[in-house]
Amino acid sequence: MLFKMSSTQSDEQTVMNPNIGEVLDLRNAKGHGFYCYEYDGLYLFVPPPSVLKGGHHVDKLRSISEAELKDDDIMICAYPKCGTHWLWEVTKMLISGTIKYEKGVKESRMLEWTFKDGIEAVPPPRVFNTHLPLRMLPKQVVEKKIKCIQIMRNPKDVCVSYFNHLRDRAKPWGYDGDFSEFTETFLAGKLPDGSYPNYLRAWKVELAAAPDLPVLHLFYEEMLLNPLRTVKDIARFLGLSSTDQFCEDVADACSFKKMKKVDQEMKTKLDMKIWADGSEGTFYRKGEIGDWKNWFTVAENERFDQIWNAKMKDSGFEFTYAPA
Ligand code: A3P
Repeated sequence: MLFKMSSTQSDEQTVMNPNIGEVLDLRNAKGHGFYCYEYDGLYLFVPPPSVLKGGHHVDKLRSISEAELKDDDIMICAYPKCGTHWLWEVTKMLISGTIKYEKGVKESRMLEWTFKDGIEAVPPPRVFNTHLPLRMLPKQVVEKKIKCIQIMRNPKDVCVSYFNHLRDRAKPWGYDGDFSEFTETFLAGKLPDGSYPNYLRAWKVELAAAPDLPVLHLFYEEMLLNPLRTVKDIARFLGLSSTDQFCEDVADACSFKKMKKVDQEMKTKLDMKIWADGSEGTFYRKGEIGDWKNWFTVAENERFDQIWNAKMKDSGFEFTYAPA
C-alpha cells in the first residue's frame, strides 16, 4: 500500500516517488514514528525528489553495488549518530595533508545519496561514507580491498543523538513522539537505517566472509578521550607518513567546538531541507559521552539494558557509557 504522508512543509517533502513500491507505516499506537520502505532487509527513508532526480530509488540503490571504485578510495562506515561527520573531516584532512576544512558536506559523499553515477563522478582523493551494511556497498569494496574505517558508539548516546536529530528533522521525516517512545522505536529498529544491533551484527557476519578487507574499527568514545591517538591510528592505517605535529593539528582542528563553528560559518547547504523551521537542528549537538544519563529514567535505562543485552548476547561488542 502506498501511504500519503501529510506535511505542512514544502512540496519537496510531500511529493513521494510513486516508483518506490510499498511504503511501510512503522508508527506506534500513538501515531508517532516513521514511514519507511524496506530494501534488502533494511528500513530506509523515502528520499525527496531532489535526490532521486527522476529515478527509481530501488534501482538507484541497486546501482551502488556496481559502482566503479578507485584503488585508493576510502569508505567510512557507521550507523547514524556514531560520529560520521567528525571521522570524515579527520580523514579528509589526513589524506589531503592540509588543515583545510571541507567546504562541502559529508552527505554529498554518501553512497546512499549519490548512487553509482554520483560515486563515479567524485574527483580523487575520495572519502565516501555510508550507513549501509557491507552487502549493499559496491562489490569492488571487497574485490579491490578498499580501506574501510568503521566508527561505533555506545547505543544509549546513539539513541539520544538520533532522537534529537529526528525530532528536529523537517516533516515528513521528523519524529513527533517523546524520548521514551523513541527508545522503544530504536530498540525495535523501526526507524530509518534500521536497527543498531542488526547493523553491528550484519557487519560482523559480512566481514567474516571478507576476511581480507582492511577495516579499522574505531569507537566514538575512544576518539573523544584520545583524539590524537585516534588520528595517528587512522594515519597509520591509511599508510600515511603524517608527522606527530600534523596529527595534533588535525585532532585540534576537528574538535567538536571548531567543527561546530565551521559548520555554522562555511559549510555548503544541501539541496534539500533537512531541519524543521524553528528547530535547532544540527549535526553538532553536544559531542559528549554519557549524555544519555540526562534522558533515561532509571526504569527506561534498565529496560534498555535488558533488551539491548538480549539482542547483543554473545556478539562480542563492548561499549563505554561514561567518560571515566
Ligand atoms: P550528539 O548528538 O550526541 O552531540 P553523525 O556525524 O554520525 O551524525 O554523528 C553525530 C554525533 O557526533 C553528534 O552527537 C555530534 O555532536 C557528534 N560529533 C560531531 N562532531 C564531533 C566532534 N568533532 N567531536 C565530538 N563529537 C562530534
